[in-house]
Amino acid sequence: MQAPTQPQVLAGQKALVTGGSSGIGAGVAVALAQAGADVVVAYHSSADGANEIVAQIQALGRQARAVKADVSCRDDVQALFEQSIAAFGTLDILISNAGLQRDAAFVDMTLQDWQQVIDTNLTGMFLCCQLAAREFLRRGPRPVSRALGKIVCMSSVHEVIPWAERANYAASKGGVKLLMQSIAQELAPKRIRINSIGPGAIKTPINREAWETPEARDKLLELIPYGRIGEPEDIGRAAMWLCSDAADYITGQTLFVDGGMTLYPEFADGG
Ligand code: BGC
Repeated sequence: MQAPTQPQVLAGQKALVTGGSSGIGAGVAVALAQAGADVVVAYHSSADGANEIVAQIQALGRQARAVKADVSCRDDVQALFEQSIAAFGTLDILISNAGLQRDAAFVDMTLQDWQQVIDTNLTGMFLCCQLAAREFLRRGPRPVSRALGKIVCMSSVHEVIPWAERANYAASKGGVKLLMQSIAQELAPKRIRINSIGPGAIKTPINREAWETPEARDKLLELIPYGRIGEPEDIGRAAMWLCSDAADYITGQTLFVDGGMTLYPEFADGG
């Protein structure tokens, strides 16, 4: 068995990560397990990817399950939560991470391009956050954490940076920002903490085109003052910390994990 590499700040906690079979979701699922959590890895299409992450988590000595669900489908989300709670007894942490892009020039964007992105990135987040909050309230306080429950919404730098040819995606992330803040305001008195992470360019399948050739990589690096493309582990560590009691006084915030992408790097040489 691989030795844990992180302090066990999430010991005894039960987490659900949507979009957990690859990319940022996979990185977060493993990071939470390294910190002591048992994890449900929810996936849309890649059973192999999800099973691989489950195996990695089990090798850390934690429990894990792969569950298939389309987060934009109410019945799927209901079944996902039922299966997760049946497996682990309850949930302490939701990482609402599942998301996709369907890029198109605005004048050519189809209603389907628009709808698919809003349905998964925003409506899916609404459905998952609602069921997580209901479960936290149903089961009441647990000794594993100061909060009744924690939610991390996976947003993007594009909740603040407009993005040409991705109006659907940027609109979904702008929506995530005020969804997160509104429910954080509403549920803080119940001791439910809800925050977002705003990743910048993280090396995952969603943005392969932006980093796979040296030319694309150089162009992308111009947007990242810190001079490297992010890794899923960068987001995993941030999520682990936000869910831990070390962040117990933090709610309603977006933590940008972006190597400075939101710092208007074009202005570094004068305006
Ligand atoms: C997008 C990526 C993009 C990054 C920075 C993310 O939210 O999904 O495709 O590389 O933002 O622009």
